[in-house]
Amino acid sequence: MTPDPATRTPVIIDCDPGHDDALAIALALASPEVEVLGITTIGGNAPLAATTRNAGRVLALLGRADVPVAAGPAQPLNRPLETAPQVHGVSGLDGADLPEPLAAPRPEGALEFLRQTLLAAPAPVTLVPTGPLTNIGLLLRTYPEVAAKIGRISLMGGAMRAGNWTPAAEFNIWVDPEAARIVFRSGLPITMCGLEVTHKALFGWPEIARLDALGTRIGTVFADLLRFFVKFHLERYGTADTPVHDAVAVAAVARPGMVGTRRYHVDVEVTGELTRGRTVVDDRGQSGTGLEANVDVALDIDRAAFADLLIGAIASYG
Ligand code: BDR
Ligand code: CA
Repeated sequence: MTPDPATRTPVIIDCDPGHDDALAIALALASPEVEVLGITTIGGNAPLAATTRNAGRVLALLGRADVPVAAGPAQPLNRPLETAPQVHGVSGLDGADLPEPLAAPRPEGALEFLRQTLLAAPAPVTLVPTGPLTNIGLLLRTYPEVAAKIGRISLMGGAMRAGNWTPAAEFNIWVDPEAARIVFRSGLPITMCGLEVTHKALFGWPEIARLDALGTRIGTVFADLLRFFVKFHLERYGTADTPVHDAVAVAAVARPGMVGTRRYHVDVEVTGELTRGRTVVDDRGQSGTGLEANVDVALDIDRAAFADLLIGAIASYG
């Protein structure tokens, strides 16, 4: 049953598309449970100009050029940008034939777009960051008053154990740990969809075959994107089963029952020689400092249900 529009969760997706960011956008726009107020972009998987173009390309593909896109700063708060061409290709969305954007990014930029959209929203908005947290850290640092209009932050980033960019750090947190620290210390409700859960949200050849079998242009584009993404994971990790990280942060909003969470205290290491970008999760209560749990850490998702949700979303575009 389609939810009453009045009960839909308003969201802003803050992303660096990115193969899995593209799937996150497609899932959000197809989910009747959420209303996408806009997309903000940041450099991460590719430089800012590329990720902003890619957001517009995905929207053009999905027939949703009406969704506003606003670009953030070209660099993280305190450091040069590091990108991931080995994972996502030089364009950030290598492997598929996408159209060019049909609309220009908003002239005011991400910071002002976020501020104005949040202040104008009649109900608290859920932010869904799926890239480095520069935009959200900057927003909370510059305009702390908008925190009252943020209902939750459902982010893809971090890990309780091993990282995927360094032994200690997951990529999104590694790129801008200072921004991530601002977010994790904000006191806002946070759902952290880190590597523990995203490595259970896997697509491999069978799921790609289901996308091909849709026989639609959009199904084929996403199958092509996933073929590229899977090839990297196969070469790097020896398995075709590939985490569709960013779509989990959307699933946690659209279908909260699908994602199992536990509350822990989480903070971010910003200076460690070996551990920069690590999300330090006190899952054994060892800090001994009386720090209160501040984050709902996502730990579980049913692979089959997640695949059905994502493939169903892509099928819904026809
Ligand atoms: C995260 O890093 C990026 O490569 C993906 O888009 C995802 O957001 C996974 O570590
Ligand atoms: Ca991403």
